[in-house]
Amino acid sequence: MTTAPKRTDLPEWQALAAQARALRRVHLRELFRRDPARGERYTAEAAGLFLDYSKNLVTDEILTGLFALARACGLAGARAAMFRGDRINVTENRPVLHVALRNRAQTPIRVDGKDVMPEVNAVLGRMSAFAQRIRSGTWRGHTGKPIRAVVNLGIGGSDLGPAMACEALNPYAQRDLAVRFVSNVDAAHFVEQTRDLDPAETLFIVASKTFATQETMTNAATARAWCLRALRAEAAVARHFAAVSANAPAVAQFGIDPANMFEFWDWVGGRYSLCSAVGLPLMIVIGPENFTALLDGFHLMDRHFAEAPLERNLPAILGLLGIWYNNFWGAETYAILPYDQALRRFPAYLQQADMESNGKQTDKEGRRVTWQTGPVIWGAPGTNGQHAFYQLMHQGTKLIPADFIGFCRTHQALGDHHVKLMANCFAQTEALAFGKTAAEVAAEGVPAALIPFRVFEGNRPTNTILAEQLTPATLGALIALYEHKIFTQGAIWNVFSFDQWGVQLGKVLADKVLTELQSLAEPALAHDSSTNALIRRFRQARQPIL
Ligand code: F6P
Repeated sequence: MTTAPKRTDLPEWQALAAQARALRRVHLRELFRRDPARGERYTAEAAGLFLDYSKNLVTDEILTGLFALARACGLAGARAAMFRGDRINVTENRPVLHVALRNRAQTPIRVDGKDVMPEVNAVLGRMSAFAQRIRSGTWRGHTGKPIRAVVNLGIGGSDLGPAMACEALNPYAQRDLAVRFVSNVDAAHFVEQTRDLDPAETLFIVASKTFATQETMTNAATARAWCLRALRAEAAVARHFAAVSANAPAVAQFGIDPANMFEFWDWVGGRYSLCSAVGLPLMIVIGPENFTALLDGFHLMDRHFAEAPLERNLPAILGLLGIWYNNFWGAETYAILPYDQALRRFPAYLQQADMESNGKQTDKEGRRVTWQTGPVIWGAPGTNGQHAFYQLMHQGTKLIPADFIGFCRTHQALGDHHVKLMANCFAQTEALAFGKTAAEVAAEGVPAALIPFRVFEGNRPTNTILAEQLTPATLGALIALYEHKIFTQGAIWNVFSFDQWGVQLGKVLADKVLTELQSLAEPALAHDSSTNALIRRFRQARQPIL
């Protein structure tokens, strides 16, 4: 391992730390007063997304400092290495090539000297043919009925992306096809999602990169039994099950027809896999044409990230602003606030994308980091969040940077709903930035004793991302924007963003505990006293396993 300087030792880092101290005395009100064009200057646009970052606690000097930090950390080189197919996922010795999945330019991308584009296109072609057959009803179930419901069995990256996107693109859905997602090993999830379905009209997609994940394999076995109980023939599995995986032998062992298996590759991380065969349920629901438009949107943002100068590069700007608050202002969390009900699941999707990528404690040199890495990502759609947690954002003691995401046009143009929604979106960022002073409160005739409670300090930073409409292409660009934001931050924090060793320990221990919970004989427990007691208590009260 080389000994790159610690990030905090970089002169660019230290300069920013000093600038943060100096800026603490300046209010956004003052920054906007000094530069009346700020709201137009601090904007950038790409792939149909308009970013207004003027309501951030930054100046030209600070932005210059942030771009200098990105250069000092080798962001451009890291980015080129990813697009080139270098093995940048060092701890798993893999390239990171989700960009190949939506490489609409078709330029060759090589892994071990072999261009991956023909394979990518072949799988997309097979997915498309399969999706068309389901959509048109030419694919028949075991009893000859067409498929009316698609149930995705997967978890994490094999669930969150397609589940989020199916909801986001609902206006493009074929409405006589139901789509359901079962992820949790809690049987309630399977039972509730299949309660009203007819096995003869249901297609299960077992989505698992490893085809070894406990939750998904348990749900797949339950689905198989549910299907066979009704259809009473092993042959039904071939008509009612498809698989999405990077592990072909395990799929065959489960009994799924290799003709119904859609492959992806170990160079696609689970949380970056929506454009791979993991997107199959989405493609079935919105159709191959709309799925292609989604890929086009991803690709536009990929090219923008790869080619635009940092100063106009949306993912780089978002990433650097996040670093500014995370590392120089002590912010621990980051809110994602879509003003669009269809993006209800977007914050949860980004939780995995961001927190599994950059929730790391070790830098690329193997040293314990001495700087903060990934923030806690959370959020909910507006306006619902306004009536729940915005109080703390406006008047609490924590700094919570936030992204507000909205659209000029809606698919559901019903009365004045949409203008009201967007009025709230714009008003919230204004209120968070500028607040209301004691003098302004007093001028409204508020009694002196109540003034402190009615003051809004403001100075709360936000970005606004505005697009024309939530189309497949816009959604693709939006997801890619955040993927590359995460990449930017990982490069600056000097962490490996594409592994997830932190989820392993719990999985291993769960296997051990499972054996102890299931054992007929009283097991000899050798955990800590808390875990031992919990296991004993559960065993005493547990139900027989059916
Ligand atoms: O436990 C975390 C994780 O490995 C994620 O990274 C992944 O998206 C998820 O589990 C599901 O994995 P698989 O697709 O292999 O079932």
